[in-house]
Amino acid sequence: MKQQLLLCCLFLAAAMGTVRGQTVRSLAEERGIYFGAAVTFPANPAVYETTLAREFNGLVCENAMKFGNIMTGPTTFSYSEADAIVNFGVSHGMYVRGHTFIWHKQNPTWFMNLNVSRDSAFKIMEQYITSVMTHFRGKIKEWDIVNEAVARDSSGMRLGSGYADESQNSKWAALTDAANHDFDYIDSAFTYARRADSSVLLFYNDYNTEGMGKKADRAYDIVAHLKSLDLVDGVGLQCHFHLSTDSVAGPNGSWSPSELAANLERLAALGLIISFTEVDIRIPNAHTPMTAEDSALLIQQRDEYYTLMKLFLAQPKCRSFFVWGINDAQSWIPDFFDGYGSCLLFSNTAGTNGQFERKTCYYGVLDALSDATGILGNARENYVKMIPATKAANRSFDLLGRTVKDIPFHPRIIVVKPGGAVNEIHP
Ligand code: G3I
Repeated sequence: MKQQLLLCCLFLAAAMGTVRGQTVRSLAEERGIYFGAAVTFPANPAVYETTLAREFNGLVCENAMKFGNIMTGPTTFSYSEADAIVNFGVSHGMYVRGHTFIWHKQNPTWFMNLNVSRDSAFKIMEQYITSVMTHFRGKIKEWDIVNEAVARDSSGMRLGSGYADESQNSKWAALTDAANHDFDYIDSAFTYARRADSSVLLFYNDYNTEGMGKKADRAYDIVAHLKSLDLVDGVGLQCHFHLSTDSVAGPNGSWSPSELAANLERLAALGLIISFTEVDIRIPNAHTPMTAEDSALLIQQRDEYYTLMKLFLAQPKCRSFFVWGINDAQSWIPDFFDGYGSCLLFSNTAGTNGQFERKTCYYGVLDALSDATGILGNARENYVKMIPATKAANRSFDLLGRTVKDIPFHPRIIVVKPGGAVNEIHP
């Protein structure tokens, strides 16, 4: 009876997952990875900040650091919003990513109206990159230097014209006559960044480049070229996904775990660090009231978050896993994908603990980070090692008699840190 009671307590603790303060942040720190979120401070940020600081050890500005937000005129800068977010990150011991310098979107009006020579365009680029990197020196550890240079339809590189939708054309490509100069604006941007701060990791970042298709090949070519010049340190895979089982959502955001694993392998072989920079997994909006089909989608979404984190953990060159926002209310998805939403880890209202409530998919991430089988099965020798399976397996059993490594959620695990220090993580 006593033993049953004990087992019952263990099981409940396992199901609750966070009774001893276990969060995705604490588990990410045990793993030696950065688990971050894109941040835009809302008007009333108290709950938002509590959740952010507790659950994440990394952050990036969702919009505040973009060209149009930060460079208000040819020689004027506005740093206040970006400073508030970056300083919050630094004061809460977070790893801060910088996003982003050279992009076809969210550029200032004064720049979009320019009609200047190639040389002048490069001077503007140099001044912009140098000033902003100098401003954030010591606070930002990795930067997206060039973002989404490959054309949306994968036909080639993004040019100064060609898309009927003007927002898809690149002003940088137009001003530097990129098509006739081997897209050297990309090399130049990375060169200016290296010169501005050689201690920062420089990234190329793109979307729909996670698998093994044509667009991923283009991105691979870009980073292979930059790497040969020692201008790039890492590659960002945005990971704006819909469920891999969603047959009506189309190719934008579709993903396949095996293709992703293969792509990670070839990018890692280039010697690059890999970051998942803007993760969200969108699902069709639920009905009111929710149907069984809606619940099944939530479970599927949890499983896909789990799989994504497992793939990330299995590749030693992966180090930052950033989601594109904290809660659904602030996500970009409903504005851009009609009928879709619910893509992030937290609800929009505070629970009794004063934080946004954890959604089902949160537990997919937590589970992947705490999964004993996962730790045993992966190759992150540089960061953590698991005590042999037999030792861990003897520690506890759930009510169904499964050993610890078979419990699907929050098993008790033991982690040996690189220096040999032993840490026990309890459910
Ligand atoms: O700031 C204006 C505000 O003044 C105006 O009243 C309001 C009216 O619509 O718009 C506000 O600007 C919006 C801006 O976000 C800030 O909220 C823009 O319309 C809106 O288009 C913009 O969307 C951002 C989008 O990038 C632009 O492409 C999203 O918030 C942001 O999440 C998204 O982030 C990008 C990454 O940087 C790169 N990868 C793709 C990712 C998703 O699109």
